[in-house]
Amino acid sequence: AHLWRGVIEEYREWLPVTPETPVITLGEGGTPLVHSAWLSGIVRGDVWLKVEGDNPTGSFKDRGMTAAISVAAGEGAKAVVCASTGNTSASMTAYAARAGLTPIVLVPHGKIAAGKMAQAVMHGASVIQLRGGFDQCLQVARDLAEQYPVALVNSVNPVRLQGQKTASFEIVDALGEAPDLHILPVGNAGNISAYWLGYQEYADAGLATKTPAMWGFQAEGSAPIVLGHPVEHPETLATAIRVGNPASWQLAVAARDDSQGRIEAVTDQEILSAQHELASREGVFVEPASAAGVAGLLKSAASVEPGSTIAITVTGHGLKDTETALSGVDSIVDSVIDVDVHAAAEVAGLV
Ligand code: F0G
Repeated sequence: AHLWRGVIEEYREWLPVTPETPVITLGEGGTPLVHSAWLSGIVRGDVWLKVEGDNPTGSFKDRGMTAAISVAAGEGAKAVVCASTGNTSASMTAYAARAGLTPIVLVPHGKIAAGKMAQAVMHGASVIQLRGGFDQCLQVARDLAEQYPVALVNSVNPVRLQGQKTASFEIVDALGEAPDLHILPVGNAGNISAYWLGYQEYADAGLATKTPAMWGFQAEGSAPIVLGHPVEHPETLATAIRVGNPASWQLAVAARDDSQGRIEAVTDQEILSAQHELASREGVFVEPASAAGVAGLLKSAASVEPGSTIAITVTGHGLKDTETALSGVDSIVDSVIDVDVHAAAEVAGLV
């Protein structure tokens, strides 16, 4: 049996590591590529979900973090810092714990999901809540790394994108070819840039005969790339992608244009509805931001060429933010009854 060794060992020759780099891994990557009969039927093609919530800390961030923390540890860092809407911090703190590094986390006050906050706290971080959004947190994180002995591991650290590109490799390895179209949510715009990098590298190496069109979706209230200018006060209940001035803006625009793709917006209502449908129809429970790609496909289904192979990255696990998920549902407990089989059968609709 082949034991999955984490993305550094699985894709070592594609990554900026040397034999001396300590490998800090939780076995990330190797996530399921799940066929969606529901979405395939809608577009009359084949739609595959890359389920990144199955990573060790519940999001795609682990791919970039194993790389960034390994390199930082190899360079002798003692402390690491990130700004985050929650997932980067959950991931960084876990890998920092394994590497014995001190984790410092900057998050927007009151705007990160409870599950993500719990992760950072349990992994031993000092969590600093700023009176500001993600963009301000990132500025302070950059300044900290410049003025103090602490390494920055946000996706402005190029090693992060190198690790994240391995998801493209896995998709091509699984399908035997690149998809025609790849769809994913866009926040700070690192992931779309990383996927594009990965697809290009595999095509250049002859491991795929084509590259996909890249379609990114932002939340309507936080859609700077769609608008063409920064959003000073970004809003969306998909807090993971509540970003007004993405660090990888130019890379994302290049991915869009070079792939003949698009970056568009979906509303919070479309996001919540896609999240709910994905969970109830396909058994895949993702956090709100992670459903933005599915919402985008549903909205743009008419412009998909029939017969296309489509990969959609669903970026993070639904359990990270149960509060937002349940806010769109009428009631958590449908019925409270006495201990009685007939009453149970009745409310369950069996009689
Ligand atoms: N989906 C989820 C669940 C995320 O957490 C993020 C980003 C994205 C999508 C967007 O990816 O930023 O590479 O365009 N979360 C960052 C964080 C901002 O701090 O966890 P992106």
